[in-house]
Amino acid sequence: MKQSDYLIKEAVNFIHTCYTELGISEEEQIKRVSDIKAEIHRTGTYHHTSMELTHGAKMAWRNNNRCIGRLLWDTLHIMDARHIHTAEDAYEILVNHINFATNGGNIQSTITIFPPRFDGKDPMRIWNHQLLRYAGYESNGKVIGDSTSIAFTKVCKSLGWQGKQTNFDLLPLVIQELGQSPKLFEIPKGIVREVEITHPQLEVFKTLNLKWYAVPIISDMRLEIGGIDYPMAPFNGWYMGTEIGARNLADEDRYNVLPKIAAIMGLNTKSDRSLWLDKALVELNIAVLYSFEKAGVTIVDHHTAAKQFKAFERNEKKSNRPVTGNRAWLLPPLSSATTHIYHKPYKNDIVTPNYFYQKKAYNSNVKSQTTLGNGS
Ligand code: ARG
Repeated sequence: MKQSDYLIKEAVNFIHTCYTELGISEEEQIKRVSDIKAEIHRTGTYHHTSMELTHGAKMAWRNNNRCIGRLLWDTLHIMDARHIHTAEDAYEILVNHINFATNGGNIQSTITIFPPRFDGKDPMRIWNHQLLRYAGYESNGKVIGDSTSIAFTKVCKSLGWQGKQTNFDLLPLVIQELGQSPKLFEIPKGIVREVEITHPQLEVFKTLNLKWYAVPIISDMRLEIGGIDYPMAPFNGWYMGTEIGARNLADEDRYNVLPKIAAIMGLNTKSDRSLWLDKALVELNIAVLYSFEKAGVTIVDHHTAAKQFKAFERNEKKSNRPVTGNRAWLLPPLSSATTHIYHKPYKNDIVTPNYFYQKKAYNSNVKSQTTLGNGS
């Protein structure tokens, strides 16, 4: 199929679904479709109205099979940044996103949408996986910080950034305009909310010196609406406790704190069947939920999130939309069989609009990164 035929097909599908959901007349749908076809024939692409962009981004959330938090799809705040063309302006907008989304701890689900891909080219890309993320350093087989950031941290260093080598160094933002060298921006310290992890009963927890940032803002996925790709469209919701307590801090190849917790709790780590791992895991997850709540930062526990997902399934049924889902991702990594998700199948069909993985914007093999032209 020709590129323009494909685009028209996707656009027509999207307009009909979107407008019907919004209760817009068939007459207006037909008019909009004919305008879009003309625009595509004239220019090779088409522009979403802000209504289409807003509802499209919400639909993309609703269609994302991995997300357990989809009940709230219609509450997403959309920031239209399609007029932004320089890394400097983008940086300002991203700082704004962090501020707006953090909202003093009362987190607001937000997406900022930058210019779409045109003619196969991305006008701008952000290199970070999330706007807020801790650096990772590896030396002599030992890791400081977040192991998932090791490659990107090297890239930042090659661009002249220097971390403090702590376990929790916030990475800078790296933004690249088409055909230009990437630019690096430090995030103003004052705007980043972080939560120290303490435990409601176990005082010793604070000696672990653990913390995590408040807002997960995914920045490396592509938003696709009606055949149009938005390769730079960072979005956030808020954390489910297990993401931090059962993965980020707990995974053996991430912060790996369970053995330390077992030690301060005096658990018998010699025997697997003492279930010391499980005990430590539960206390860590209690600590994460308690600490966020105490700090006044939005967080959801996995039981509540599963109930909300059940409500989402009911709503979707009422609206005559089939619910798709990726069970492996929907299941919380803790106590999964206590949730209804464990006990039923989900169809992992991919429906658009949606958020997709895309090719990394940088070459993670830093040595061959000679095009950066920064002398390092
Ligand atoms: N799991 C990722 C992390 O721990 C964040 C993914 C998005 N999560 C969310 N609750 N919206 O950083």
